[in-house]
Amino acid sequence: MAKGKILVTGGLGYIGSHTVVELIGAGFSVVIADNLSNSDEGVLRRIETIAGVLPEFHQIDVCDVSALKNMPSNIDGVIHFAAYKSVSESVEFPLKYYRNNLVSLMNMLEFCAERNIKNFVFSSSCTVYGQSEQLPVTEESPFMPAWSPYGHTKQIGEAMIADFLKSTPGMRVVSLRYFNPAGAHETGLIGELPRGVPNNLMPYITQTAIGLRDKLKVYGSDYDTIDGTAVRDYIHVADLASAHVKAINFCCGMPENKVEVFNLGSGNGFSVLEVIESFNFTSGLKIPYEMVGRRAGDVEKIWADTTKAEKVLGFVPQRILDDITLTAWKWEQNYRQNIERKNS
Ligand code: UFG
Repeated sequence: MAKGKILVTGGLGYIGSHTVVELIGAGFSVVIADNLSNSDEGVLRRIETIAGVLPEFHQIDVCDVSALKNMPSNIDGVIHFAAYKSVSESVEFPLKYYRNNLVSLMNMLEFCAERNIKNFVFSSSCTVYGQSEQLPVTEESPFMPAWSPYGHTKQIGEAMIADFLKSTPGMRVVSLRYFNPAGAHETGLIGELPRGVPNNLMPYITQTAIGLRDKLKVYGSDYDTIDGTAVRDYIHVADLASAHVKAINFCCGMPENKVEVFNLGSGNGFSVLEVIESFNFTSGLKIPYEMVGRRAGDVEKIWADTTKAEKVLGFVPQRILDDITLTAWKWEQNYRQNIERKNS
């Protein structure tokens, strides 16, 4: 495929917006479908500022089949981000997660079949592994029981795709199992902007640093890890975004009726306290925090074996944890001091 037209669902969201920037930079034409449930339209203008192109935008909910009828023709591939992603929220509102994450996926697969779109990239997650007995996890590691409804939606999503491919000849799918995306674009123009109180660690840290939150709660200090706090594999969102360009290119060259899965992580595990330490180092601040009990749905530790992504996709993350905390802080400050203030 020459550089084609890619429909990005959830393209104004956190990972979606960074990926749109990378796709445009790589010469793709991008159409965004986003219902703005966890993003805002200002992101579109800021994508234009960074990428120099204003992508076509449709404010629709991809759970609504009828809205998909208005999508343009000649789409060459779909990158399907649109989903809810909070582990803890999914424990509280499981049906919200099953409905949104599964209906949207079913609709997008049917949409591809109807339009004869052959290339599909799915946002999966390392939560499909549950608490793996073997670390690091490879793509062959078995799925253990999901620890949250969110994780279960991704397990079901991958199974649904496999079944769908058996009945629908001609499609090719790449499922990307993200570890913990964090950080922001180096310009400070786009980044993670959760609505309400953040569930994820990095925005909670930066919102505490800017004074919106009193102190960070560290969930769990009795895990079997280096310092008792939970360990994750944090990957810079800009690296993750560039992996999507490799993934869609790879997908287009794959044999038909095939799914390939890739872990996308850095290959390194860091504890919550190590993340705080990195933030304190790069910001020159000292984040107030307190240790509290474990959070429902959290696994103890997980990090990626990145061999397959490196060998097959040619993907190697370029940024380290300090780049993540540095850019996350730059984004938080720019957003609060310039973007939010201008819009209010
Ligand atoms: N944490 C805290 N305090 C907070 C927020 C988080 O201590 O205020 C801890 C969590 O307990 C966990 C770690 O920081 O140990 C990371 O938590 P996040 O909420 O940032 O990330 P999760 O690992 O729970 O989930 C994220 C994404 C999912 C993805 C998953 C893969 O939200 O979409 O990573 O591990 F699937």
